Amino acid sequence: MFPPDLIRQLAAAKRVTVLTGAGVSAESGVPTFRDTRTGLWAKFSPEDLATPRAFRRNPRLVWEWYAWRRQLVAEAKPNPAHLALAEMETLFPHFQLITQNVDGLHQRAGSRQVVELHGNITRTKCFDEGTVVSSWKETGDVPPKCPNCGGWLRPDVVWFEEAMPQAEMELAAEASTACEVFLSIGTSTAVYPAASLPFEALRSGATVVEINPQPTPLTERAHHTLPGAAGVVLPELIALVRN
Ligand code: OAD
Repeated sequence: MFPPDLIRQLAAAKRVTVLTGAGVSAESGVPTFRDTRTGLWAKFSPEDLATPRAFRRNPRLVWEWYAWRRQLVAEAKPNPAHLALAEMETLFPHFQLITQNVDGLHQRAGSRQVVELHGNITRTKCFDEGTVVSSWKETGDVPPKCPNCGGWLRPDVVWFEEAMPQAEMELAAEASTACEVFLSIGTSTAVYPAASLPFEALRSGATVVEINPQPTPLTERAHHTLPGAAGVVLPELIALVRN
């Protein structure tokens, strides 16, 4: 199933970069966004829930929707794909994991160097000041109020129409252009600028590999496509590289 030249190249690689998306957490029971029946955006509208405008219009709805997702994430456990990625960190001299996921499951699986492009749902920040807040008084307000300025608290994730975190984006771009092998796993390659990273890796001469049961805009350009669930394909791939 696995192209022998890919195994050889990975076994010899010094610099490997991985971009993950919601598909990597699907087998942990965390819903993806764009899968046609089960994706969050099939049931909810991002315009109502994932923009600063939506939050200003209905902060309670947005807070409660994220509270529901936070609960799902808290109950989820890392799956074999997360664990394989944590092991990859120990297999290559230079390994960078970049994720669009906000669920923190990579860190819970043991990954230590994770660039989070879209924030982390387990963190909370002040809507006005942007500062991360770790505790607040429960007054019954929904959303709760910032202990510093009294403004609304919000999840520390990147919403549509918001800027990407600059340091993370720079690190991600650097790791994507400097690697020998780039793996794009469980992402629809639809949301920019994260979706540009595999194409930057291609332009810089990296071997680009996609793991996804469905085709994406990257599929035709990738050197190797491994169609299948990340939690099945990745552990098998890593077992071959390790040996
Ligand atoms: P999507 O929901 O757009 O794409 C998930 C991808 O995972 C799809 O291509 C699926 O085919 C694939 N997939 C599903 N199950 C899989 C499995 N078991 N193994 C491997 N792949 C699987 O999610 P993202 O690409 O992560 O942003 O979405 C990018 C961004 O759009 C998210 O970070 C979020 C969303 O709107 C914000 O909220 C800002």
